[in-house]
Amino acid sequence: MEHSRFYCYVSVILFISGLFFPVMVGSIGINYGQIANNLPTPDNVIPLVKSIGATKVKLYDADPRVLKAFANTGVEFIVGLGNEYLSKMRDPDKAQVWVKANVQAYLPATKITCITIGNEVLSFNDTSLTDNLLPAMQGIHTALVNLGLDKQVSVTTAHSLAVLEVSYPPSAGSFRKDLVGCITPILNFHAKTNSPFLINAYPFFAFKSNPKQVSLDFVLFQPNQGVVDPKSNFHYDNMLFAQIDAVYSALASLGYSKVPVHISETGWPSKGDEDEVGATLENAKKYNGNLFKTICQRKGTPMRPNTDLNIYVFALFNENMKPGPTSERNYGLFKPDGSPAYSLGINGTSLISTNSTATATTTITTPAPQSQQSSSTGYLSISVAVKHQESTPVIAVSHVDRNQKACRVCLSFVIQSLGKSLGCNAKRQEKTAATD
Ligand SMILES: *[C@@H]1O[C@H](CO)[C@@H](O)[C@H](O)[C@H]1NC(C)=O
Ligand SMILES: *[C@@H]1O[C@H](CO)[C@@H](O)[C@H](O)[C@H]1NC(C)=O
Ligand SMILES: *[C@@H]1O[C@H](CO)[C@@H](O)[C@H](O)[C@H]1NC(C)=O
Repeated sequence: MEHSRFYCYVSVILFISGLFFPVMVGSIGINYGQIANNLPTPDNVIPLVKSIGATKVKLYDADPRVLKAFANTGVEFIVGLGNEYLSKMRDPDKAQVWVKANVQAYLPATKITCITIGNEVLSFNDTSLTDNLLPAMQGIHTALVNLGLDKQVSVTTAHSLAVLEVSYPPSAGSFRKDLVGCITPILNFHAKTNSPFLINAYPFFAFKSNPKQVSLDFVLFQPNQGVVDPKSNFHYDNMLFAQIDAVYSALASLGYSKVPVHISETGWPSKGDEDEVGATLENAKKYNGNLFKTICQRKGTPMRPNTDLNIYVFALFNENMKPGPTSERNYGLFKPDGSPAYSLGINGTSLISTNSTATATTTITTPAPQSQQSSSTGYLSISVAVKHQESTPVIAVSHVDRNQKACRVCLSFVIQSLGKSLGCNAKRQEKTAATD
């Protein structure tokens, strides 16, 4: 990798984050997947997270290096428990040991607010895995109660949108019939413990599988005529909102309309195989750029106009060791060297209003020596097997110049190329879920 380029990006990112982060309160979440052998060390990921205005990070494990590095940064964390651990967590003693080691140990310096038990478990159609899901959620929740942490840490699981049988029109959203039996008690758990229902929603997949019928502008949040739901009469101008509302309808159909829906993953790949229609840099830039703007505008969906979107973008990095089609390795907002994968096209120039002359010192080490094999997840069980050790030289970056005037030109360039969410004054706020 080119160290000089990395140095440059990191300097500028530090500059920007130092200049703006204090005045910016965003509600953007980002997924920090690590199925790669070339990612920066967690210390060096902090400025990247801040540079996009993200205040919430979702992990697929409870990587101690990450949780330590982000101590006292104010960043909120969702940690994950991999699908392979579900059967163990039925045992209350084991659950308690896990919570102590992976959650309690980092509190309160690292703000862990949520634990996801497994990822897309129900979509595997694996009966024993499915049967272990709710008991594992209950086991972890009980451990939190016993440790006095249940008020600050919630327990949930992330589902694929494929748990829905009907997703269009949104008012007709319903769960797969064969899953209703196991989803209902999970929803009951959410209602009782006040935890959100998490869904991974990718309009990209809908477009990819049906590019002739699905309007690209509709899936990319570009100006378009939109569609009207014939039953509710709500007007939808983007597919993600339609998908979210379909989930609200499915919840309502089982009597759980008050359980809040959060989007644990959404994103768009900047590259794909030849048969992956739509996986281009231009489309990724539009999808994620428009998504950031939408989140910052604090728009709710037509069914929940007064509820902030609670969205975790997938993902922070391109992950070079994910198997599957090319798109899988190209969802990142950043390349492993810390440079933006593409411009998000958000114009922050007009938002430069602060002045700061502080300086910062940091040390850059990249890629990270993989000192510890992060526990894998249902997200990808292969990761442990394929990760390997690698380490490279250390670069010291010091005295980053944050003088605004001196850097105005590069700042406006970088703001555009990084796609700052500088306009994002949205306070993170969990409004009460609308009643129906
Ligand atoms: C799981 O079952 C559903 C419903 O029968 C089916 O549509 C889906 O393709 C299955 N998924 C897998 C991964 O086998
Ligand atoms: C960004 O905003 C500034 C100030 O409003 C404007 O002058 C400039 O043309 C904009 N650039 C782009 C690329 O939209
Ligand atoms: C910029 O600095 C000046 C002088 O220190 C100060 O008066 C002004 O309030 C600052 N502006 C902002 C937006 O912080």
